[in-house]
Amino acid sequence: MSDILTDTSAGVLTITLNRVDKKNSITAAMYASMADALAQAEADPAVRTVVFQGHETIFSAGNDIGDFLNAKPSTMDSPVFRFLRGISTFSKPVLAAVCGPAVGIGTTLLFHCDLVYAGDNAAFSMPFVNLGLCPEAASSYLAPQRMGYGRAAEALLLGEPFMAEAALEMGLVSRIVPPSEAAALAQRQAQKLAAKPLGSLIETKRLMKLGQVDVVAQRMAQEAQSFGRMLAEPAAREAFTAFMEKRKPDFSKV
Ligand code: COA
Repeated sequence: MSDILTDTSAGVLTITLNRVDKKNSITAAMYASMADALAQAEADPAVRTVVFQGHETIFSAGNDIGDFLNAKPSTMDSPVFRFLRGISTFSKPVLAAVCGPAVGIGTTLLFHCDLVYAGDNAAFSMPFVNLGLCPEAASSYLAPQRMGYGRAAEALLLGEPFMAEAALEMGLVSRIVPPSEAAALAQRQAQKLAAKPLGSLIETKRLMKLGQVDVVAQRMAQEAQSFGRMLAEPAAREAFTAFMEKRKPDFSKV
């Protein structure tokens, strides 16, 4: 079965991360599928909302680390950037149901969702520094803005995870439910939205995001430059190799 499942029903496009044996880590092919699905949904008036979901035990372990190891210099047309541009500029409401770990882009993509429903087992983390990398998806701007600088520094500099309650308190998450109920709640809310006038939804979302559209796009591009450079540097190579070899990284020489 495909690593990304898409299903459209009653105006709701549901995008499911379906690579549970690899903890829903995201490959270039998966970014490409999600970018294509978002582009089609943006253009299709029959799609009124989008829901992202994973599994009750895992939302996503972030970017596939094997892909990071083999990464070639990427351009702004590469699948990950097409996906990030698609989700960050998507005009209609985007929801997510998040249970279990949401690592790296598994957390940063949520900054671009309008409504996030979390299982009480959700654990969010952005361990870019621990991997010799820097933030992506405009999270260097959106995390301090949403979480406050102090909590963002714990999350981005120390790479410390935060749980569903903290995410609720900072407004990243709209509601916490048992993991078995998160996907159904997201669907119900998506269907409520799909029944509303689409033009009003689009205009309301546009106005709510008006002040940050340009800064998000610029920050994403700046981060992408640094991220691309750092992927090839010794700290990141050591972190990725250590992960593949199931050992702790040794940064003493980098
Ligand atoms: N990329 C590639 N493979 C990954 C992966 C990733 N980001 N995350 C997990 N996997 C793979 C593991 O290599 C393992 O594969 P194997 O069964 O062939 O050995 C499988 O998924 C299960 O992972 P495991 O680590 O054993 O599961 P866990 O339940 O103990 O831990 C996580 C789950 C998510 C906490 C842990 O997998 C993890 O920390 N992953 C890396 C997260 C990360 O740093 N992502 C990059 C962010 S920028």
